[in-house]
Amino acid sequence: MKVQINPERCQGHGRCYDLAPELFGEDDEGYGVVLGDGLVAPEHERAARLAVVNCPEKAIDSGEE
Ligand code: F3S
Repeated sequence: MKVQINPERCQGHGRCYDLAPELFGEDDEGYGVVLGDGLVAPEHERAARLAVVNCPEKAIDSGEE
């Protein structure tokens, strides 16, 4: 699994980096950013899916439905 944040959708709600700080961080204005290359280790896939479903803007793509 690989996660990406669509910067045109992200409104800075911050759920991603609260729920999955191992995968997401925030920029200077509080918008979400993917840490590293976005590749999700198996032990972090659960957190990644949690972030995907909790982003109110549906700004996070994991390549899954
Ligand atoms: Fe942005 Fe969604 Fe995270 S709006 S800061 S990607 S929870």
